[in-house]
Amino acid sequence: MRTPIIAGNWKMNKNPQEAVEFVNAIKDKLGPYTAVERVVCPPYVALPGVQAALAGTAIAVGAQDVHWEESGAYTSQIAPNMLQGLVKHVIIGHSETREYQGVTNEMVNKKAKAALAHGLHPIIAVGESLEINEAGGTQEFVGNQVRAAFDGIPASALATIVVAYEPIWAIGTGKSATSDQANSIIGAIRGILAELYGDEHANAMRIQYGGSVKPNNMVDFMSQEHIDGALVGGASLKVDSFVDLVRLAVEAKGLS
Ligand code: PGA
Repeated sequence: MRTPIIAGNWKMNKNPQEAVEFVNAIKDKLGPYTAVERVVCPPYVALPGVQAALAGTAIAVGAQDVHWEESGAYTSQIAPNMLQGLVKHVIIGHSETREYQGVTNEMVNKKAKAALAHGLHPIIAVGESLEINEAGGTQEFVGNQVRAAFDGIPASALATIVVAYEPIWAIGTGKSATSDQANSIIGAIRGILAELYGDEHANAMRIQYGGSVKPNNMVDFMSQEHIDGALVGGASLKVDSFVDLVRLAVEAKGLS
């Protein structure tokens, strides 16, 4: 049984004080739901405060991106060693970084390797545009993203990696993929991982869905065979909806 993982991607929301207030408000409420892994991914500047506020709880902290170099002339970037001790997870290849910061498949691969080398657990995001989706190219496009992201990554690292399938046209739009569509693409991603690493590894890997996940569609997604959790933007920013998402994941997977 794969442990579901629900991660809140806060994007560019909440200042350090708001971030600490938020995690103080959720930590007791999320306490009972130990059957799913719970992660919050605040902006970089809020990480120290959030990490301190969650110390001693089972709620994990993630960063939203990471550079692959150790240090150097990379204005605005954060190196993997800077995140050590502050976060467990790091989102890599989110479509907004691919679109606005020019992150390529090759960079995703370098970032993932650098994260792993520092003991950070990558959440590797992949997903297609509406244009590709409508042209029927989703499996090929997402498949290429997955193959590129995992290039040279050894099977021994897989247990710490999560993949997030996030169709770009479903992010922040209120238009989620149907749970059947998401399950079928995620099943295809698992098939590619099986080609690369064998069935046993592929079946143990966790693959999330992301894109307009809300409490009212959470059970649909979580009831699907291949969907092991969610990467959630908007609905992770409010205490009640984030707690509801975690509770619904536990219930939908029959873990309560
Ligand atoms: P959304 O964002 O839930 O607001 O659609 C998801 C994401 O970008 O990770």
